[in-house]
Amino acid sequence: MARQVSIGVLISGGGTNLQSIIDAIEAKKLDAKIQFVLSNKADAYGLVRAKNHGVSTEVLDHKAFPSREAYDQAVVDLLHARGVELVVLAGFMRLLSPVFVKAYSNRIMNIHPALLPAFPGLHAQKKALEYGVRCAGCTVHFVNEECDEGPIIIQAVVPVFADDTEEALAARILKQEHRIYPRAIQLYAEGRLRVVGRRVSVDGFSKDEDQVLIQPSLAR
Ligand code: GAR
Repeated sequence: MARQVSIGVLISGGGTNLQSIIDAIEAKKLDAKIQFVLSNKADAYGLVRAKNHGVSTEVLDHKAFPSREAYDQAVVDLLHARGVELVVLAGFMRLLSPVFVKAYSNRIMNIHPALLPAFPGLHAQKKALEYGVRCAGCTVHFVNEECDEGPIIIQAVVPVFADDTEEALAARILKQEHRIYPRAIQLYAEGRLRVVGRRVSVDGFSKDEDQVLIQPSLAR
C-alpha cells in the first residue's frame, strides 16, 4: 500500500474524469485523498459529482479576477491552504500561467484527448478525424508552461474507424481516459515517476515488446 497522496482536482465541466478518480479511490485502487474539487464555472456538473461523494468543492470564477496571474495565485493559495501535493487537471479548460506552474513544478498533471504531441489544444478528436489518423488516444502528462506539451506519463491508443463521428471517437477515447488517469496518479502516489528532461521514467515497469495496435487490423 502506497502512502495517500493529497490531490486537488480542477474542473470546468462534466467531470467524468473526476468521477473515475473518485471511483478508483472508493474501490481502493488509488491511494489518494481529494482535498477539494475546484471549478472556474459555477454550473460545472462535476461539482455535483463531488458533493455526491462527500468531497468538498470551491468555485473560483476567473472572470472576477483582473489577470490570469491573479486568478492563478488565488488558486495556488487555496491549494496550499488545503495541503494539496498534486494538482490534477480534469477538463479544466484554462491555460496556466508561470505563477501556477512554478508553484507546483512537476506536480501538476493534465489529461488530453489525443496522442500528444499530435493535436494539442481544443477539438483534438475532431482534428484527429479530419487528419485521417488510424489510431487516436489520450495522454496524461505533467504540465509545463506550454499548452499540452509537458513530459508524458501514460498514453492509451484506440482505433479510428472509417465511419466514426467526432462523438463516437470522443467516447472511445474518454473510456480510456478513465482508465489511465487514476493509474497515472497511483504511479505518482507510489513514488514511481521520475522526470528527467522531457522523459518520465516509471520504476518497476515491465516491458511487453509485442504489444501493438495495427489499424486496420491484419485480420480481415
Ligand atoms: C476530457 O476529454 C479531457 O481529456 C478534455 O476535456 C474532457 C473533460 O471531460 N480535456 C482537454 O481537452 C484539455 N485540453 P470530463 O469533464 O468529463 O472529465
